[in-house]
Amino acid sequence: MPQVDTPYLAGLDLRDRRVVVVGGGIVAQRRLPNLLDAGALVELVSPEATPAVEGMAQAEELRWHQRRYREGDLDGAWYVLALTNDAEVNAAVVAEATGRRIFCVRADDGTAGTASTPASAEWNGLRIAVASGHLTRRSPTSGGRDPIRVASVRDGVLDWLRSGAGERLLNHPDSRSRTALTESTTLPGVALVGGGPGDPELITVRGRRLLGQADVVVVDRLGPRALLGELAPNVEVIDATKLPRGRFMAQEAINACLVEHALAGKFVVRLKGGDPYVFGRGSEELEACAAAGIPVTVVPGLSSAIAVPALAGIPLTHRGVAHEAVIVSGHLPPGHPESLVDWTALARLSGTIVVLMGVQNLGVIALALRKNGRDGETPVAVVQDGSMPAEKITIGTLDSIDDIAQEAGVRAPAIIVIGGVVAQRP
Ligand SMILES: C[S@@+](CC[C@H](N)C(=O)[O-])C[C@H]1O[C@@H](n2cnc3c(N)ncnc32)[C@H](O)[C@@H]1O
Repeated sequence: MPQVDTPYLAGLDLRDRRVVVVGGGIVAQRRLPNLLDAGALVELVSPEATPAVEGMAQAEELRWHQRRYREGDLDGAWYVLALTNDAEVNAAVVAEATGRRIFCVRADDGTAGTASTPASAEWNGLRIAVASGHLTRRSPTSGGRDPIRVASVRDGVLDWLRSGAGERLLNHPDSRSRTALTESTTLPGVALVGGGPGDPELITVRGRRLLGQADVVVVDRLGPRALLGELAPNVEVIDATKLPRGRFMAQEAINACLVEHALAGKFVVRLKGGDPYVFGRGSEELEACAAAGIPVTVVPGLSSAIAVPALAGIPLTHRGVAHEAVIVSGHLPPGHPESLVDWTALARLSGTIVVLMGVQNLGVIALALRKNGRDGETPVAVVQDGSMPAEKITIGTLDSIDDIAQEAGVRAPAIIVIGGVVAQRP
């Protein structure tokens, strides 16, 4: 028999199937979005997790067993990922998985597992995966650095497809048109990239291109988190999540982190949800970089304030219904001494009010608007997890929305839209 050294590529249907992930660190943060998007029932076993992974557990996207791995955890699993930074634990997970004949990825030593994660990406309804052609680690002379090579090839294919050349070729099979694969170049400084509301297809082309050139990516919980799974393995991902009333990375620490990595010669992408300058503290990050003499590129993003209502079918303005749309932060209740919002003036508007970060204060906001003159029958929509698979839309009026939203278990992140435009939703 000839020696076989080639992996077999397969597409797993993980919908509603138990997948056990051991380890809740940054590697898990990079792998989890694609597993969740595939519909897997993810069980995370780990004493700790990054804030973003904790956020996934809080949002009930996965079940988190907050303890160390123990034998038996893999019972009933279809697929297993050993992602801890403890080689002994990873080895034990692989051993149990192998005993049970469950394929298992081992992050710290790809050759010691029984499966590996290809460099993958989603493009226009296609799933693209590139994997090393070797099951064993190659020496540098025979094609080492395979992980970087496969990610580069995947990026090249993606760039080619995004350039439109792929579409042209598909439409015209005889076409001889070819586009050179884009070469990644090292850029200086920091890019503040607005990632849009969460759907990876709603980032701008420039934002996505710069993300593909990053040495370091500093991420939030909101925004196109699935794109983290596309990053080359050598890209450092830093979690700057701020959980509502939970763990958070202080803004000063985020600013310092951007400056430090940029001064070390890295190209840093600060990937933010929505638009960097809409309640995104992007200007503070820009000021910190400018003070350190670091060049900054700002890439605007599609703000959730606009995109989320639109995706839910709600136009922010509509002829004869709303001639204004005001975007307001609801993180402080009306009357709070530090609030800069004039709720009395807002109550006199006839147009649309879009409230971000307002779920916690929904009842008092509705009350303040009614007390100051807005009709209690004014339609209200609360759109949670807009653009994401778990999107949930709750509809009521200023009089009823607080009770309805509580009953529906609405939680952050959500956009509240107040005004007649809500009734335009088909
Ligand atoms: C700190 S603000 C950041 C806003 C962001 N810079 C933007 O332009 O979308 C976070 C708030 O944005 C809203 N938000 C962001 N993404 C959302 C989404 N996918 N669905 C619903 N609301 C979202 C929520 O109100 C959330 O509390």
